[in-house]
Amino acid sequence: MSALVAIREASVTGGDYSPAKEKASNRGVYNGRSTLLNRRFRLLIGGGAKYKLLLLLCFLTSLYSLSSRLSSFMGWNPHYPSSVYSTSRGGYTVLINTWKRNTLLKQSVAHYASCGGTDGIHVIWRERNPPSDELRVYLKNVVLSKSQTANKPNFRFDLNERDNLNNRFKPIEDLRTDAIFSVDDDVIVPCRTLDFAFTVWQTASRTMVGFVPRMHWLNEERNGVAYYGYGGWWSVWWTGTYSMVLSKAAFFHKKYLDLYTSKMPSSIHDYVSNERNCEDIGMSLLVANASGAPPIWVKGKIYEIGSSGIRSLKGHSYARNKCLNDLVSLYGAIPLIKTNMKACDARHIWFW
Ligand SMILES: *[C@@H]1O[C@H](CO)[C@@H](O)[C@H](O)[C@H]1NC(C)=O
Repeated sequence: MSALVAIREASVTGGDYSPAKEKASNRGVYNGRSTLLNRRFRLLIGGGAKYKLLLLLCFLTSLYSLSSRLSSFMGWNPHYPSSVYSTSRGGYTVLINTWKRNTLLKQSVAHYASCGGTDGIHVIWRERNPPSDELRVYLKNVVLSKSQTANKPNFRFDLNERDNLNNRFKPIEDLRTDAIFSVDDDVIVPCRTLDFAFTVWQTASRTMVGFVPRMHWLNEERNGVAYYGYGGWWSVWWTGTYSMVLSKAAFFHKKYLDLYTSKMPSSIHDYVSNERNCEDIGMSLLVANASGAPPIWVKGKIYEIGSSGIRSLKGHSYARNKCLNDLVSLYGAIPLIKTNMKACDARHIWFW
């Protein structure tokens, strides 16, 4: 199928060629067209529009994939080292953050167990009472029955004595994978999308790769202190710029669990556990500081199955603004890096 597509595409562009046209273009008849193309190209990359840069990137990615498919079809395959993109590092561990929502938890465990790249599922249990035997048995069985792979994913609860939001990023003993997919119990990422994001992470494992982008900007400087604004989905959509991806649906390297727990300033741990919020902003600061790189936003639909989005929008945005500024001042720096790049699956791009 993909080979067919490649041929069709090739004959469309190749069909333009004829000796007469070539001669004509040498005489300058076709120069009009090429300057038009030139102008369009300049228009495309000029104008400072974030959007266009993004599109161009997606376009180049798809072009690259097309050309590599064409070349392999034509027998030009220069033997790509397949191990680079294979799941040689052993898939990922899904880290589910849950709180008193067993129905959602059952749904999301069943879903992630069915994804091919899932090597393990860890549920961060933050209630004081341990999970019931009924729930344990149910989830164990659902993992076994839904898993499509020969190696059944590990399933484990991480129990905690106190409800402390920092536990979300506690190091996990005997992890089998480098990759962690951190997700809230009410977020469902389709397996195809998830596996694609994992391949993105494999090429950029220092940074966070996820589906929920957020941004920051400098609001004002007063008496040598910088105040920042925190931008939600609309700001990202409007400007095409982001500097964080939230841990409610993101891949990161397991070493960041260690760094979060042992190297993060303890004032930040205290802040997060007192406010019961903003551990995700803390993690973004940490990964940006350690990697010196922006996060990567992956294109793909995700589904929120809970009905918990009743947070008053105004209050929420005020709280997030405050968190960002408080955490930045506790951290002593703002290491976040802005970017306009978005990774998209080239198999799904036909036109822009
Ligand atoms: C940020 O990274 C640098 C270099 O890796 C490190 O020395 C520093 O402690 C980090 N900052 C914080 C607040 O963790």
